[in-house]
Amino acid sequence: MTGTDKPAVLVTGGAGYIGAHTAKALGERGYRPVVFDNLSSGYEAAVRWGDLVRGDIRDGEALKAAFAAHDIQAVIHFAGLIEVGRSTQRPDLFWDINVSGTRSLLTAMQESGVGRLVFSSSAAVYGQGGRGALETIPEEAAKAPSSPYGATKLAGEWMIEAQCRAYGLTGVALRYFNAAGADPSGLIGEAHDPETHLLPLAMAAGLGDGKPLTIFGDDFDTPDGTCLRDYIHVSDLAAAHVAALEVELPAGAFEAVNIGTGTGASVREVVEAVGHALGRPVPHSTGARRDGDPPSLVANPARAKDLLGWEPICSTLEEIVRDALRWEGQPRYGVGNRAARQS
Ligand code: UFG
Repeated sequence: MTGTDKPAVLVTGGAGYIGAHTAKALGERGYRPVVFDNLSSGYEAAVRWGDLVRGDIRDGEALKAAFAAHDIQAVIHFAGLIEVGRSTQRPDLFWDINVSGTRSLLTAMQESGVGRLVFSSSAAVYGQGGRGALETIPEEAAKAPSSPYGATKLAGEWMIEAQCRAYGLTGVALRYFNAAGADPSGLIGEAHDPETHLLPLAMAAGLGDGKPLTIFGDDFDTPDGTCLRDYIHVSDLAAAHVAALEVELPAGAFEAVNIGTGTGASVREVVEAVGHALGRPVPHSTGARRDGDPPSLVANPARAKDLLGWEPICSTLEEIVRDALRWEGQPRYGVGNRAARQS
């Protein structure tokens, strides 16, 4: 395969954290990733493995123009809002961008004859439900999103499934658990602004260029009282998207698949892993629980292995923290990095 013979895949939100890592994985696998992103939260500097089309997923005409101009064969759809907390304050925005945006994408795909979709879904579709703190979550588990964010991801899945059945599209929704870490090259990584995620905040606190970390609650029904999450290296996550793109499925099929390791780490364990890697403890205190945080979200990853032949290969806490720290020492697209925070 050479040059433009490579199958082109539109990556909506490909200038964002997981999207950029997936574009890299696609490029390495012989695809031609074409990033479609309005750069509202993504970074142009993260688009290194293919063309960038600046556009909004709610703009169906722009999507159809991109499909035609780049001979798009399939779509991986990341574009959307992700902050759980903000979704409780601005649910209208989440329904507009995450749900209306996905609807607009589906219509554009159908009208353009693009028949294959991988959707960025989330463990947030599950919520806590009636599950015990140590139970892993299979895909059939009850769906009880505890935030508007999770509800919009579930609505997206339902819409895609119905569209697959009705129009013969083939869709795979990947329900990620907690994406973390960075590409080992140090070229791309996590750069949310504002940052709300545990690992980057713990690293900033440990490096002395952020506030001391607050652990949100230590009275959960979990082994050490802090929340359990299933942290998955973003490079493993990117590989799962390529596997989902390639799995043989009949037209009209829709599958939802958990992407996690099957092992939970507590907030305290993450803080300790960062301290261990830095060789000094992370300054922290314990505060109140954060609204909407389920005590435990840990995947049962069996279907990912059975259906996609995918398993994590670099998702120990040690590997995640090592690569995240390497990225933390880079220019990080010039945004929110150590130097910028200090100036
Ligand atoms: N936490 C703290 N202190 C902080 C930040 C986080 O104690 O300053 C705790 C949270 O309470 C939670 C854990 O660290 O228990 C992880 O929190 P993150 O904010 O890093 O991630 P979430 O689990 O809240 O959410 C992430 C994604 C969501 C996705 C979810 C699925 O941001 O989009 O994983 O598991 F839905």
